[in-house]
This record gives sequence, C-alpha cells and structure tokens, in this order.
Amino acid sequence: MSNFTIRKGGIPDLPILKNMMLLALETDPDAFSVMLSEYTGHSDFWWETYLFPFLTEDRQEIFFGFEGDQVASMGGLLFDDKEKKSHVASMVWIYTKPEFRGKGYSQQIITEMINSASNNPQIKKFGLMVAATQTKAIDLYKKFGFELNGVMKKELKVGDHFIDVYIMEKQI
Ligand SMILES: CC(C)(COP(=O)(O)OP(=O)(O)OC[C@H]1O[C@@H](n2cnc3c(N)ncnc32)[C@H](O)[C@@H]1OP(=O)(O)O)[C@@H](O)C(=O)NCCC(=O)NCCS
Repeated sequence: MSNFTIRKGGIPDLPILKNMMLLALETDPDAFSVMLSEYTGHSDFWWETYLFPFLTEDRQEIFFGFEGDQVASMGGLLFDDKEKKSHVASMVWIYTKPEFRGKGYSQQIITEMINSASNNPQIKKFGLMVAATQTKAIDLYKKFGFELNGVMKKELKVGDHFIDVYIMEKQI
C-alpha cells in the first residue's frame, strides 16, 4: 500500500526545500536554469529571501511529496502580481529524487498543484519552461494536457554544450 502524502511547505521546511533544490541541481544539472555552484555559495540570508515567498504563500507555493517520513518529490507554483498576468500560474522546481522516480509521485504532485491553483477562478492557464533534454518531464507534462508552444533555441549553456528550452502551456 502506498504511503505517499502531499502537503504544502511552510517556514519550518526551509532546510528541506534548500536541500531538495541543491540535490536537484546536483543530480540533474541540465534540468534547471541555474548551476549548483551558483547556489552552494549563497548566504543564509540569500536562502531565506529566496525561499520565504515559497514557504509563506507569498504569490508562490511549494508542494512536497513524502514517502513515509522521507521527502521524495516537490513542485512549485508562481503567481504573477501584475493584473494582466493574474490568470497565469507557472510551475517550477518539479523534481523527484532519483530513488523515488517512476512511482507516480510527480504525477500526484502535479495533479495536486493543478487542482489547488484551479480552485482560484482567476487562474486560466498554467505555464512552464523545460529543458529539451528532460524527455521524461516533457512526456509527463503532455499527459496533463500541456502543449509545446515555443522553443528558445540554445537558451542554456552547460559546460560547452547548448540546450534548447521549451515553453509549455495548459489552458483551463
Ligand atoms: C521528471 C520527473 C520529475 C518525473 O518524476 P517521477 O516522480 O519519476 O514521475 P512519475 O513517476 O509521476 O511519472 C514518471 C513515470 O512513472 C509512471 N508511473 C506512474 N505511476 C506509476 C506507478 N504507480 N508505478 C510505476 N510507474 C508509475 C508514469 O506513467 C511515468 O511513466 P512514463 O515514463 O511511461 O511516462 C523526474 O524524472 C525528475 O525529477 N527529473 C529530473 C528533473 C526534471 O527534469 N524536472 C523537470 C524540470 S522542468
């Protein structure tokens, strides 16, 4: 029987979120737009400033998935404060630890994120950006009805190779 649970992050989860982000950058360096080395050097103050909006629901939310008491998966939502973009929710930091992959955890988190944001009648669309290398993630987003609506060519440079970034969107 699955003992997978999902909950939103709060202030006490700051170390969990920081560790998950650093792990994500370490295990999947092509997947995100920042380098691990850029984030490891940051001060505690920087981390608090960056993470508090996620943990206080200040136009940002983070969802954690736990297998038992171990954090396995996460996903973030960003909401724009500009009137003209108040109908858009962006998905960020979608990540499952390697040892927990293929168990449907990300699917469950994304389902929860979509349901949660859709409770707000203002929200009419979801958007995200995904590196072209992340085929598992792209397939997963397509399963939720995300469409590939644009390509930013050579948007990321990792070492000496370039990676395209796809813009994916889902209307609700
Ligand atoms: C992309 C990523 C988040 C997917 O996480 P995940 O938790 O493994 O995803 P899921 O398990 O929900 O779905 C993945 C697969 O497991 C399958 N699955 C779903 N439920 C399952 C279950 N109960 N048992 C086995 N497999 C299952 C899904 O159908 C899917 O299969 P597919 O490969 O045929 O599409 C993960 O691979 C990851 O963290 N990648 C690196 C970071 C990344 O690319 N992030 C995206 C940034 S935009």
